[in-house]
Amino acid sequence: MRAYELIHRKREGGALTGAELEWLVRGFTAGEIPDAQLAAFCMAVFFRGMTPAEVLALTEAMLRSGDVLDLSAIPGAKVDKHSTGGVGDKVSLPLAALAVACGVRVPMVSGRGLGHTGGTLDKLEAIPGFRVDLPVARFVELVRDVGAGLIGQTDRLAPADRRLYALRDVTATVESIPLIAASIMSKKLAEGIDGLVLDVKVGRGAFMKTPAEARRLAETLVGIGRGAGKRVTALLTAMDQPLGLAIGNALEVAEGTALLRGEGPADLREVTVALTAEMVLLAGRAADLAAARGAVEAAIADGRGLAAWRRIVAAQGGDARVVDDPGRLPQAATRVEVASPAAGVVEAIDAEALGLAAMALGAGRARVEDRVDPAVGLVLRKKVGDPVSRGEPLLVVHRNPGGEPQPQVAARVLAAFTIGPGPAAPPPLVLERMAEP
Ligand code: URA
Repeated sequence: MRAYELIHRKREGGALTGAELEWLVRGFTAGEIPDAQLAAFCMAVFFRGMTPAEVLALTEAMLRSGDVLDLSAIPGAKVDKHSTGGVGDKVSLPLAALAVACGVRVPMVSGRGLGHTGGTLDKLEAIPGFRVDLPVARFVELVRDVGAGLIGQTDRLAPADRRLYALRDVTATVESIPLIAASIMSKKLAEGIDGLVLDVKVGRGAFMKTPAEARRLAETLVGIGRGAGKRVTALLTAMDQPLGLAIGNALEVAEGTALLRGEGPADLREVTVALTAEMVLLAGRAADLAAARGAVEAAIADGRGLAAWRRIVAAQGGDARVVDDPGRLPQAATRVEVASPAAGVVEAIDAEALGLAAMALGAGRARVEDRVDPAVGLVLRKKVGDPVSRGEPLLVVHRNPGGEPQPQVAARVLAAFTIGPGPAAPPPLVLERMAEP
């Protein structure tokens, strides 16, 4: 085989066989096929796309570039959730606890935040002592004994994806649905799961800006998962305004934990319950979706979700006292309100702009190597549809010295809010469901 011929065929709109894709991925990972040829291949895929069979074969080749965890010795269904990323999306934390409380095993390998979007690992590390860099053997023990393990990607899980993503990042080939889908699914399938719930975010704070794009990504992800023999459900959920009120790592831990106490914002609860219920259903722990939702709601109401969260935090070295006393989480030096310049109704909040404002405070990363400050961020006081009077706070900035100065943060925040005469209704949260046939 010659890489040149495969690139040429894809460039002309042809399809590659599974064996050809396997050869390409293996050669690239071994350093035998140069970056220039893989970059040209990615650009050809960017313009020509891939057939469902090609995307599945590419994913499986990337998956086989590393280890695939074998959790078959652990009884019960192992189900994870993956979100394509958003602003204020702390769902994974309460979701893992609630799924465990409902009898689901949750092997969760997560990522870090980049740009305007947050990452689950950064949120977990805001809990003093919480370790996400655990060896695989410990991860397997956690899934077996505690019900959930929450760790970061190891060097051995889908290493081809790590190399390929770095190459796509510098060759303007990240935004290709087949390449995104293969990247996500190669990592998820390496976790040894039986089922997967996908939360494909749609809107101005999401990777996919329109429902049509999000639907295409969801269909591709679901097709790969089912092609690999897994049970998969996808929800398309709204990400125009931030989810919940808190943006920033410790602030989001506190809000996710409040949900488990039956408190906290209704939109966060709705999305968390919807996704967790899909996990419960895929795991075969409920007869239908209504029963699955009922089980999740009961685990909030009777405190089993909160108890599971205490166990998860403690098992990974975290200070479980934060669960009942959020004051023990890292706190920013100053809290300053940003007041509304006008009276009216909040008609829109640009999630991406607020994500970037939180990043400028130090809550996120502009580059992979940046460090995050766990304490800083933003807490909204108003969401879309809320009336506001002039001078009333729109949000509170939690800032530490070293973050972007308050006047600049306030200017960014104000630019993110659209205040008009209204009325404005809060948009629907769950836009579409692609369930098991
Ligand atoms: N997330 C991933 O894991 N991979 C992509 O290519 C894009 C988003």
